[in-house]
Amino acid sequence: MASEPVTDWARDFDLGDPQYEADPYVIWDELRESCPIAHTERRGGAFLPTTYDDVAAIAYDTEHFSSRRTSVLPDPPGATLLVAPPITSDPPFHTKARRVLLGYFSPKNITHLEAHTRQVCTELLDAIEATGEPTADAAGDFAQHIPVRVIAHMLGIPEADEAIFTGWAVAVFQDGVDDPDIVRDAIKEILAYFEVQIRERRIEGKDDLLTGLLEAEMDGDPLTDKHLLGTCFLLLMAGIDTTWSGIGSSLWHLATTPSDRDRLVTEPALMDSAVEEFLRAYSPVTMAREVIADVEVNGCPMHAGDKVLLNFPAGNRDPAKFERPDEILIDREKNRHFAFGIGIHRCLGSNVARMEMRVALETWLERFPSFALIPDAQVRWGGAQVRGPREVPVTLVS
Ligand code: HEM
Repeated sequence: MASEPVTDWARDFDLGDPQYEADPYVIWDELRESCPIAHTERRGGAFLPTTYDDVAAIAYDTEHFSSRRTSVLPDPPGATLLVAPPITSDPPFHTKARRVLLGYFSPKNITHLEAHTRQVCTELLDAIEATGEPTADAAGDFAQHIPVRVIAHMLGIPEADEAIFTGWAVAVFQDGVDDPDIVRDAIKEILAYFEVQIRERRIEGKDDLLTGLLEAEMDGDPLTDKHLLGTCFLLLMAGIDTTWSGIGSSLWHLATTPSDRDRLVTEPALMDSAVEEFLRAYSPVTMAREVIADVEVNGCPMHAGDKVLLNFPAGNRDPAKFERPDEILIDREKNRHFAFGIGIHRCLGSNVARMEMRVALETWLERFPSFALIPDAQVRWGGAQVRGPREVPVTLVS
């Protein structure tokens, strides 16, 4: 279902428009100057703030904005609203639902995951080398496999089911943009998959996150089945397309900017600031909120029932917040970006994601220090909620 091309970004924007997918930066720059909170009637209607301060103000304001609808797309027809604590929860429930998960993201667990991530990356690089080809797709052959295998390992579900998990992430965040039925069907399948996994663990527990959730309590009671399944859905989906987009954009940047690629090879100590800069400049995630009480943001009236998008990627390019925002400076010192959100829902997996990005880039650069984008290669970027390059075709030795 192709939409009409957009001609008025202030009053009729569309996140699925090819121009927005290919280059949203000029659109945000124009909007910040002319109409910092854009609006559309498309896809169920929504506001689109473009400044850092407006996005942050909305993210912090849980009195007027609810997280019960966080998808930038309209609800699939006939579907009951997905409950995926803590991301779809509001206070005070949110605080308790988030607390249930906090321990799994401790530094100790992340150190353990790092060894596994390095092993996954090494296997993928070995497979690329084993083809004997001088080229590869740094997204499809490498980036897109890493977070799927890492989160499967973390949850305790079979890494051998990787292709199924990837299919669901693609359905929810890519193919479903123009077809809500695809999203609804994928959600059903994911919940059914976890129902089986949980049933198995009720019979015999394992040393994994799913078993931990079964044993967890909130206010002295075990989590309800709906809560449990929704949280499993969230943990599987939150870390896949997001992190592979982060790794993919970083590799695309290095494949198209040999000076930064060479600098990271010779000055590996810059890796942490480079990862932060890639997260800022190519922020993958836009979230949504539902207005629950009439409110005005920066002079723009919003009414209960309206949807507003948390445009973290545009805020991270706001010249009022970042000096030279459209330049990618891998040694940028002051970089308080909000690629992982801001406020009570700030990403729980941020340190897992940072670790995955760092290990992916380190292992790739060790193996292919002089890789480059294939000249004239076409790279498609998408999509509405999670943005990243669909493919990154590279020559492995320049
Ligand atoms: C580069 C990769 C990632 C990016 C850019 C990212 C971005 C975000 C953002 C923007 C939010 C805030 C949502 C909101 O305000 O509504 C969020 C929340 C969340 N993320 Fe991530 N994420 C990434 C990776 C991960 C990973 C790897 C995991 C899990 C292993 C994860 C788990 C979560 C969870 C559980 C929440 C909900 C927190 C809450 O509601 O309190 N994320 N993420």
